[in-house]
Amino acid sequence: MATVIGTPLSPSAVRVLLLGSGELGKEVTIALQRFGVEVIAVDRYADAPAHQVAHHAEVIDMTDAAQVRAVIDKHRPHYVLPEIEAIATEALEDVEKEGVAEVIPSAKAVSATLDRERIRRLADEELGLPTSPYLFAGSLEEMRRAVEAIGYPCVVKPVMSSSGKGQSVLYGPGDVDAAWESARTGARVNNDRVIIEGFVDFDYEITLLTVRAVDPATGALATYFCDPIGHRQVAGDYVESWQPQPMSEIAYGTARSVAARIATAMGNGGTSGRGVFGVELFVKGDEVYFSEVSPRPHDTGLVTMASQRLSEFELHARAVLGLPVDTSAVSPGASAVVYGRHDAEGIKFAGVAQALADPAVDLRLFGKPESFARRRMGVVLAVGPDTETARQRATRAAELVQPLLADAEEPSAPPTIGQETVAIPRPDAPPRPVHPGPPPRRPHPGPPQPPPGRPGPGRPGPAGPAGPRPSAPPPPPPPGPRPPA
Ligand SMILES: Nc1ncnc2c1ncn2[C@@H]1O[C@H](COP(=O)(O)OP(=O)(O)OP(=O)(O)O)[C@@H](O)[C@H]1O
Ligand SMILES: [Mg+2]
Repeated sequence: MATVIGTPLSPSAVRVLLLGSGELGKEVTIALQRFGVEVIAVDRYADAPAHQVAHHAEVIDMTDAAQVRAVIDKHRPHYVLPEIEAIATEALEDVEKEGVAEVIPSAKAVSATLDRERIRRLADEELGLPTSPYLFAGSLEEMRRAVEAIGYPCVVKPVMSSSGKGQSVLYGPGDVDAAWESARTGARVNNDRVIIEGFVDFDYEITLLTVRAVDPATGALATYFCDPIGHRQVAGDYVESWQPQPMSEIAYGTARSVAARIATAMGNGGTSGRGVFGVELFVKGDEVYFSEVSPRPHDTGLVTMASQRLSEFELHARAVLGLPVDTSAVSPGASAVVYGRHDAEGIKFAGVAQALADPAVDLRLFGKPESFARRRMGVVLAVGPDTETARQRATRAAELVQPLLADAEEPSAPPTIGQETVAIPRPDAPPRPVHPGPPPRRPHPGPPQPPPGRPGPGRPGPAGPAGPRPSAPPPPPPPGPRPPA
């Protein structure tokens, strides 16, 4: 672990190499650069979001161990941060073993979390964490028997997949064959291995961002928690998230205990295993079920750019560098995803000024060179006096951001929200707030800070807003492409 920070692009530089350069990596890069760290961003395609803000950009096949090793040997980073799951982890294990660079949080964590079998066995068999009932299968026949043993409804997932790919909910024996096929085609690797999980009829699901960072008082690692993040998933992707998600005291206590145990198990002792973890939990009443964990910032945690003093990306940067962290919240907040709505390169975004006319709203456009209808191209952030208000603001603003094909005319008709028409401000007129009414609370400083050592996620109380579950009867897809203006 570096104890001093040098000058980027000089021999004294602290160098970080990111494997994966998407929107989360872009924010991590910016956070690291603010500390004067030299960043090398690597991805499988050119001009990825983090490439655009890093000191160096590299394009390689990250599933090829030789190419991963070669790019690490070329740049000799102090730290390697895997930002996605599809990486040749053998190379990371070697790099860690040979002491070439420190893998964040550890090579073991990166390889365990991309395999549902390894992480589930670790969570259940080694740590004794509560999970849904589960079995594994390697053939259709084995899966049929496992499904009968688990019972309906149940969820089938390839052991190697992410973003909901290849997942199905089974309601009866008639669903088995299709689930097997979809798991085979949705898997990242061709090993025909699936997990069969009992369907958890949860009240809500959360991401508990958990930080393992050096405690300046002791010099040893300690565990810190952000307030719980609630989110709504559609077809395997999060569409909106909010913080804090209210929880009962008992559920929140269990959630922290589960998260601390899984995050601690991701290191090799000492100061290994530093960083932010996105611990995904299902909550039913006071019961908490561990689902999975990302050994890195989590997409639902984009909301922390509005709701916390230090975003999950800034927390990650600090934890990696061995610096102290602060997980204080500043305001209830929400995030809403902006989808590409087009399959095209070089798209444009209209309606940005209209979205930002609400002073409680902020926007990130990731700058991805190619758009797909369901690709996440940006995110709206909003604050408010409560998460409900923040969610409404974020969702309304996200609807105003209008992806257009590169050759499309700018819309001549003002964008509309439902039946309401939003005036496009004339250059000589001051912008009119989209939401008339009292001005929103200023984001900084926000509502009163919880006391230090604060354990409470907002007000404890009955379960707050929990969106429809994706695996239940399929929820409606997000709005399709808008008709051309
Ligand atoms: N056993 C289960 N019971 C009920 N709902 C489930 C279950 N497993 C998954 N889900 C739902 O499906 C979503 C996606 O599942 P999971 O997180 O395992 O998939 P993933 O492919 O890793 O997705 P991501 O990469 O986006 O986290 C969960 O957030 C939850 O809403
Ligand atoms: Mg998940």
